[in-house]
Amino acid sequence: MKSFEVAAVVSGGASGLGAATSRALAARGAAVTILDLNEDAGTALAAELGGHTTFVRTDVTDEASVEAAIAEATGKDRPLRIAINCAGIGWAERTVNRDGSAHGLPQFTKTVMVNLVGTFNVLRLAAAAMARTEPGEDGERGVVVNTASIAAYDGQIGQIAYAASKGGIVGLTLPAARDLSSVGVRVCTIAPGLVDTPLLGSLPEEARTALASGIPFPRRLGRPEDFAELALAIVEHGYLNGEVIRMDGALRMAPR
Ligand SMILES: NC(=O)c1ccc[n+]([C@@H]2O[C@H](COP(=O)([O-])OP(=O)(O)OC[C@H]3O[C@@H](n4cnc5c(N)ncnc54)[C@H](O)[C@@H]3O)[C@@H](O)[C@H]2O)c1
Repeated sequence: MKSFEVAAVVSGGASGLGAATSRALAARGAAVTILDLNEDAGTALAAELGGHTTFVRTDVTDEASVEAAIAEATGKDRPLRIAINCAGIGWAERTVNRDGSAHGLPQFTKTVMVNLVGTFNVLRLAAAAMARTEPGEDGERGVVVNTASIAAYDGQIGQIAYAASKGGIVGLTLPAARDLSSVGVRVCTIAPGLVDTPLLGSLPEEARTALASGIPFPRRLGRPEDFAELALAIVEHGYLNGEVIRMDGALRMAPR
């Protein structure tokens, strides 16, 4: 896809990686719809970006909520061709905790619901909307970019719920691309390493430096802009499909 003169949805688009991607897409002329639970941040970003950018308060785990957000995106004066899935949450708990109690089932379920089921919910509804548009170059109608994590491969102690949810996103990438080949929609996933978002920003400088020192090269935390650049490169590169790309400075996480 060479042109960004299209409509785009970005889940989790009000913060961190999603916000950087919303900014990058808007700067390239896309009509962005930000889907996020965080009303204050979403409204503020949409106002800052102006133009064709709008915010819809969305819970990615809820069918009607995502349907309403996709309806907003498809109501813009250009076809919906880009969906970026960034909404996600973290959870840290061991399978058996230090006090002998088992990992909470609701916490595991919630992490999988938001990260995996939420990603699939946006993917399926955005792809169905894209399938109704006229195809462009190579018969392409659109592209979906999901966000996993290197925890899908190197899940650390205490990351079982998070790693399982992200492993699910890695696992659905190829079958989604295969399913959607008949309608000309590509699907790729980015597996980021350690990126300096509000999540990590809350850690003391010392802890951030310690995290960065474990990254082979470049020896720094990733920036949200690094992620946005890769997401846009995937959108532009019409031959990338069904692939998961690690973006981690060659980091491989140790057990703890
Ligand atoms: N920051 C990192 O180092 C890193 C590394 C690997 C993967 N990731 C993944 O990247 C994605 C973005 O992370 P981030 O660091 O930008 O986090 P963030 O907390 O800054 O942004 C996540 C956004 O998702 C939204 N969200 C949460 N639950 C939602 C729901 N049910 N419906 C709609 N929106 C919801 C939040 O309101 C928030 O705005 C996540 O999936 C995260 O797991 C981040």
